[in-house]
Amino acid sequence: EKGGFDHFMLKEIYEQPSVIKDTYRGRLLADQGIVRLGGLEDHIEKFLNADRIIIVACGTSWHAGLVAEYIFEDLTRIPVEVEYASEFRYRNPIISEKDVVIAISQSGETADTLAAIKLAKSKGAFVFGICNVVGSTISRETHSGSYTHAGPEIGVASTKAFTTQITVLTMMALRLAKAKGTISNSAYMLYLRELELIPDQVQEALLSEDKIKEISAVFKDARNFLYLGRGYNFPVALEGALKLKEISYIHAEGYPAAEMKHGPIALIDEHMPVVVIAIKSEHYEKVVSNIQEIKARKGKIIAVVSKGDTAVRDMADYVIEVPHTPEALTPLVTTIPLQLLSYHIAVLLDKNVDQPRNLAKSVTVE
Ligand code: F6R
Repeated sequence: EKGGFDHFMLKEIYEQPSVIKDTYRGRLLADQGIVRLGGLEDHIEKFLNADRIIIVACGTSWHAGLVAEYIFEDLTRIPVEVEYASEFRYRNPIISEKDVVIAISQSGETADTLAAIKLAKSKGAFVFGICNVVGSTISRETHSGSYTHAGPEIGVASTKAFTTQITVLTMMALRLAKAKGTISNSAYMLYLRELELIPDQVQEALLSEDKIKEISAVFKDARNFLYLGRGYNFPVALEGALKLKEISYIHAEGYPAAEMKHGPIALIDEHMPVVVIAIKSEHYEKVVSNIQEIKARKGKIIAVVSKGDTAVRDMADYVIEVPHTPEALTPLVTTIPLQLLSYHIAVLLDKNVDQPRNLAKSVTVE
């Protein structure tokens, strides 16, 4: 049942190239310049007329929502807010019929997300669900939605659900940007073609597993980790830290790289591994200087870099390469090494990877 893998989590990490393809199959027709999600097409006016989009979710699904905030605002110019479902529902939030709420949930059963949906509906908002489990409560309680088609996710730590959620959200952003005229035709066509290539690039990113195993052996006894990223990769840093906490029980924090100097840099010493997403992007130079600041304080750098990078290689203690893709799509590839790192550290520490202590696959209590 684990298909030759030692754990469901590893099997699910390796399924990502094929499930991302399943998620866009029949929906993304790059040659014809078409992105079509049934649940979106049926209600596209709601999105086009929305004053703003509010995304509600918990945990890893909330991180997918944060990635979506970047891509939606960037491409569609619709204001987006991303909320922890548990905070949103108890805050007496301002919601109206002009708002569109997107609820993201792998299981489709998360109590707080469900309660946030009910609240939004009671205020007249249109609610769109992105779920993995077909027929789940959230998929039934929303006005419309799109499934992620990741297949059953058994490992408690979410992996393929995250990347397929981002795939759906990216397709939505592209479709809406096209409809709103906020994207040039050439950029639109480029994104479609690049999104179609993502499964191959995820496959390529998986080739770093042996190297990541070696890095895991070096750092498995660390008591704390920092994860840094900027822009689209800030939420990836949060997700990397969450994965490590969940399955290895090592304390980890994700931060936007530029926030380092506002506090966390005080933590840096020779015992602190810092995972930095330092891919070629708008923020590259800035992230490189963050790496220098960490090295000056003897921190240990594990950098996720773009293939062929040389500048970071000279500074970092360890580098893991990922293939090139436009910045908006990079979370789909930069997430992969972070999943593998947390997996291998947990295995080396002999933890129960698929069923970490104190956690349940679906959180049906608040
Ligand atoms: C992390 C994880 C949790 C879930 C969260 C939301 O690996 O699994 O943080 O992401 O409980 O669950 P869903 O997406 O089912 O609503």
